[in-house]
Amino acid sequence: MSTTSTSHQGGYSHDAVVYALQKCGIRHIDTAKRYGCESLLQKAIKESDVKREDLWITTKLWHSDYGYENTKQACLESCKRLGVQYLDLYLVHWPDAQVPGKSNREVRAETWRAMEDLYEKGICRSIGVSNFLINHLEQLKEDCKITPHVNQVEYHPFQRPEELVDYCRSRNIVFEGYCPLAKGEALTHPNIIQLAKKYGKTPAQICIRWSIQNGIVTIPKSTKIERIQENCEVRCGLLASYD
Ligand SMILES: NC(=O)c1ccc[n+]([C@@H]2O[C@H](COP(=O)([O-])OP(=O)(O)OC[C@H]3O[C@@H](n4cnc5c(N)ncnc54)[C@H](OP(=O)(O)O)[C@@H]3O)[C@@H](O)[C@H]2O)c1
Repeated sequence: MSTTSTSHQGGYSHDAVVYALQKCGIRHIDTAKRYGCESLLQKAIKESDVKREDLWITTKLWHSDYGYENTKQACLESCKRLGVQYLDLYLVHWPDAQVPGKSNREVRAETWRAMEDLYEKGICRSIGVSNFLINHLEQLKEDCKITPHVNQVEYHPFQRPEELVDYCRSRNIVFEGYCPLAKGEALTHPNIIQLAKKYGKTPAQICIRWSIQNGIVTIPKSTKIERIQENCEVRCGLLASYD
């Protein structure tokens, strides 16, 4: 399980990232060029003293950088801002490309070919996509060689794309679920509150555990130290009883 503190919405907290790395044993950082905090993360990682090889660092390619050459350039720039030689996972952030005169499918295919090169050169140890639907993944299958290793998609009790989850599983694409707390909105739902009371947990822990228990890689975010601690205190065993 990982907790991230890096998206552009809701702010960035240096202290929360350092705390997550130093005190909670969190090793998975999910960020994006779009979030504008890759350089800040370099500083936080350095301060935490956690070794690079012990971290899993994901960042994402924004659509303004789609296309073969731009993708490669953008990846190297992200690595530079993060202060790393390689990424553990690089994601194409959105399926929509918005390049005038070219179809989205064409741009996604060119972009993905650059992602394949980055993977083959070892600059990205794994490559994936985000917010891709089944039809986008089917097109990529026809147009390119390497199946994405990961698809990162919104997943929480109000958003359960089960057909997409099953499709990803059938093709060995890891399904990573973002916004597991529905950006905090799930935490006031009466059913979640009722379950939290029943099990003596907090609403956030119920949502995180629910997602993990469904076999989803789960990446909650908080900028608050005490909430990062709370979000970490969720047992991760799949299908184990919630005692
Ligand atoms: N691929 C994509 O397109 C995409 C899109 C969105 C997000 N993501 C990734 O997913 C991560 C999580 O998504 P998210 O931040 O949008 O949504 P989220 O994790 O569902 O919710 C974060 C919100 O919940 C609050 N929160 C966190 N823990 C809490 C707790 N224990 N009790 C009460 N409130 C709590 C946070 O506030 P405080 O900070 O004030 O605690 C924040 O407002 C992001 O950091 C990003 O890495 C990816």
